[in-house]
Amino acid sequence: MIVAGNWKMFDGPDPRALRAALGDLPHVVAPPYTRLRECVDAGLTTYAQNVHWESEGAFTGEISPPMLQALGVTGAIVGHSERRQFFGETDEGVAKRTRAALAAGLNVIACVGETEAQREAGETEEVLRRQVGVLEAHPNLVIAYEPVWAIGTGKTATPEIAQDAHAFIKSLLDLPVLYGGSVKPDNAAVLLSQPAVDGALVGGASLDIDSFVAICRAGS
Ligand code: PGA
Repeated sequence: MIVAGNWKMFDGPDPRALRAALGDLPHVVAPPYTRLRECVDAGLTTYAQNVHWESEGAFTGEISPPMLQALGVTGAIVGHSERRQFFGETDEGVAKRTRAALAAGLNVIACVGETEAQREAGETEEVLRRQVGVLEAHPNLVIAYEPVWAIGTGKTATPEIAQDAHAFIKSLLDLPVLYGGSVKPDNAAVLLSQPAVDGALVGGASLDIDSFVAICRAGS
């Protein structure tokens, strides 16, 4: 069971205070780049929010696997829906980032999920098939199913919707699947108890130490 906190473009909580509050609970945090070192130094399991496929080069605004590894970062999120929606990330780009990060020895959380319009049009499976179809199984790869309509909206997928989507994703690629989208302390236990739900990717609720620790506890 993995519970990962995606801080997005927020400074987030104090890494040392978070580390102390987590105790032995398994966790991942993905802070903004400026706080990676602080999180590593505090002893947190630290991932980046994105990673490029080349080791170095003329790629303004990007960061490479060895650069992250030099900081002690052990993984990266790729293909988050905010990257896809606002920054033009494509399935092919997500696949390249994933492949390179895994080859470099990073763990990867690759995000997939349908928009509200796609779900209403009955296209959820088609979208997931396309997004998952570019990925290959790897021992250090996990998928995060994040229905776009549930991210930052307070609208959580029902446990049944999550279970169905996770089971479908696993039928395409036999990997652990995390659920993401308005996971909070009060809904974490029921979501995480679904048989095909292998953890959570938490946005807003990971910015508060008490709520993130409560979700990590629900997952442990
Ligand atoms: P949320 O974000 O928990 O704030 O809905 C989840 C995510 O985007 O990973």
